[in-house]
Amino acid sequence: MISLKGVSKIYNMGKGTEVQALRDVDLQVREGDFISITGPSGSGKSTLLHILAGLDTPTGGEYLFEDLDVARTSDRVKCHLRNRKIGIVLQDFGLLGDDTALENVALPLIIGGVRRREAKSRSARVLEEVGIAELSGKRVNELSGGQRQRVAVARALVQDAKLLLADEPTGALDSGSASALMDLFERLNAGGLTIITVTHNPAVAERTPVSYSIVDGVIHSERGGE
Ligand SMILES: Nc1ncnc2c1ncn2[C@@H]1O[C@H](COP(=O)(O)OP(=O)(O)O)[C@@H](O)[C@H]1O
Ligand SMILES: [Mg+2]
Repeated sequence: MISLKGVSKIYNMGKGTEVQALRDVDLQVREGDFISITGPSGSGKSTLLHILAGLDTPTGGEYLFEDLDVARTSDRVKCHLRNRKIGIVLQDFGLLGDDTALENVALPLIIGGVRRREAKSRSARVLEEVGIAELSGKRVNELSGGQRQRVAVARALVQDAKLLLADEPTGALDSGSASALMDLFERLNAGGLTIITVTHNPAVAERTPVSYSIVDGVIHSERGGE
């Protein structure tokens, strides 16, 4: 599904100062994989996830998604990739607090031109899939961290994404909610969803069949990877 070869990312800070966030990253992901990438703050996790999502472009190396050369493709194709194949849960969730869970999940569909009625029924189905059907009419501001995280996952999956990318999904959760979220990820993965999560939490890494570590932008296979 994914092949990264020699991917690097250098941020140019101006005045000749550069920050190298990723160094020569090789990563192969097969459909159905469930992968964690663990590393300390500042190690390059979010940068890597943003590149995988097509939100950011590597400064070197090659990124293929299903044989599509992502770095060299048009913005329109990248948008399509993000809208239809890849679901991303960002570190701060990015939900609209005054809107209901259902409205938040339906938003990408409505922006994509799906009729309201169909958008609502599809969103309700995904909320059920992530285990919070009964909260669909609640405003996001009224939900707990764990419940919000499920809304964010539902929104990422509502367009039938085949790859879920999650940035520190348990970062704001207590250990019980974190473990419940990993149960959900396991269930979604058993249903065929490919998942890559980056985290600084070793408890997350213990729960995934494949795990990598990342330190100073360099990735190492820890378990199950190549
Ligand atoms: N937009 C940016 N501009 C400049 N430097 C950045 C930017 N984003 C991240 N960095 C730097 O790149 C490195 C990796 O950051 P990041 O990928 O956010 O790490 P992590 O998610 O593991 O905490 C850090 O040194 C960070 O300061
Ligand atoms: Mg980060």
